[in-house]
Amino acid sequence: MLPEDISSDLDTVLLTEEQITARLAEIARKIEADYEGRDLLLVAVLKGAVMVMADLARELERHVEIDFMAVSSYGKSTHSSGVVRIVKDLDVDLSGRNVLIVEDIIDSGLTLDWLRRNLQSRNPASLEVCALLRKPDALKVDIDAKYVGFDIPNDFVVGYGLDYAERYRNVRGVAVLAPHVYS
Ligand code: XMP
Ligand code: MG
Repeated sequence: MLPEDISSDLDTVLLTEEQITARLAEIARKIEADYEGRDLLLVAVLKGAVMVMADLARELERHVEIDFMAVSSYGKSTHSSGVVRIVKDLDVDLSGRNVLIVEDIIDSGLTLDWLRRNLQSRNPASLEVCALLRKPDALKVDIDAKYVGFDIPNDFVVGYGLDYAERYRNVRGVAVLAPHVYS
């Protein structure tokens, strides 16, 4: 596939890079206030959350540590299986740490629900969630996310780290994937 074919695979652009940047700055100010005087460890789930992690971490004007974990629940499908597997675990010990999970998207919420329980069992001092995107109409479990960038419609979206079959992660904004790509 040629690079110029990317745009024909995308329908509506839901969020531009500028909108994402502005929203992450607002969230960063809240995080700075909420965690004042406390250590902060950002934990992101690969690979989808790498862009959010990179931009949010750099927006924060304070010390932070970052760590990554890889879990698998999707494969090439566009629907959550609810089955989660640790592909790469964290390097750091979470006990006594203020942990903020940085996620790309809360769709069914099944992955995050599992992740939250898993990290909670490691005795952090606190555990919260920051997700760039959330699909309220797709939620299957209640996820208490302290910071949410945008609520979006229940369409499969790509870009800004989000993929379909490992493609489109490098698209700068977030767009709805055209149905011809997966049907
Ligand atoms: P759940 O449904 O468990 O989502 O909340 C788990 C992971 O699936 C990916 N995901 C998506 N990826 N477009 C994507 O490119 C989407 O619309 C989408 N919905 C879910 C994502 O990695 C999420 O963390
Ligand atoms: Mg994915």
